[in-house]
Amino acid sequence: MNPNHVGIIMDGNGRWATERGLERFEGHKRGLETLKSTVDLALKHNIPHISFFVFSTENFFRPAKEVNFLMDLLKQAFFSYIDECVSRGIKIKVVGNLSLLEDDIQRLCKTAEEKTKYCNNLKAYFAVAYGGRREIVDAVNKILASQVKSVSEESFRQYLYCPEMPDIDLLIRTGKEKRISNYFLWQIQYSEIFFSEKYWPDFDEDELVNAINFFKTRERRFGRVMDNFANVKN
Ligand code: IPE
Ligand code: IPE
Ligand code: MG
Repeated sequence: MNPNHVGIIMDGNGRWATERGLERFEGHKRGLETLKSTVDLALKHNIPHISFFVFSTENFFRPAKEVNFLMDLLKQAFFSYIDECVSRGIKIKVVGNLSLLEDDIQRLCKTAEEKTKYCNNLKAYFAVAYGGRREIVDAVNKILASQVKSVSEESFRQYLYCPEMPDIDLLIRTGKEKRISNYFLWQIQYSEIFFSEKYWPDFDEDELVNAINFFKTRERRFGRVMDNFANVKN
């Protein structure tokens, strides 16, 4: 079975550039092109939900020059990409603590979501100013500010940034590192994880197919045993 939701930690832009004697920002520019082509691949391979780690809460601590460059790139990308998404039926959700972003970027995020809200060929989630712990703490604070006295695992989901986003079935991390780096901690509960040796700008259809094939070989038991498999969710 194909994964319902593929989550991607797009890592390795900086090293891709440095190894070519280029400035790190050249890697980010190439990374944006890879992101767009990966959205096309998600449509082609019938992946209903795809999420991308664009900018973490920790990434704010990079040098100001790099943070500013990434924010400008984000602005340009949204600006030039929204209409294309509308025409191709791609619904955009920006997921994160958006109050950490400048006002004009916050407005662009809202516009992207608003303009694509009736699209339903593919749901694309962009994690911006996102941290998994921050999301959980923000959810707890929303609960504390409400009248609610207790929550279940299911009702807790309603307080996350994007409750309708399904759990991640296949998590891909490019760029050689084998870690989670604070990506969707709640939603990766039972993700299958594919670590790619490729730097993000080099990620391509073959590597996506490798990841999907890896996913298809997994026996997902969700803590049960095989005899009990019929009761397993999904
Ligand atoms: C990922 O590439 C993009 C962002 C985190 C914004 P990096 O910038 O982390 O690239 P490396 O890991 O330094 O090569
Ligand atoms: C994870 O990559 C964040 C994004 C891809 C946006 P990082 O480069 O920030 O993560 P670490 O520092 O290797 O853990
Ligand atoms: Mg990195």
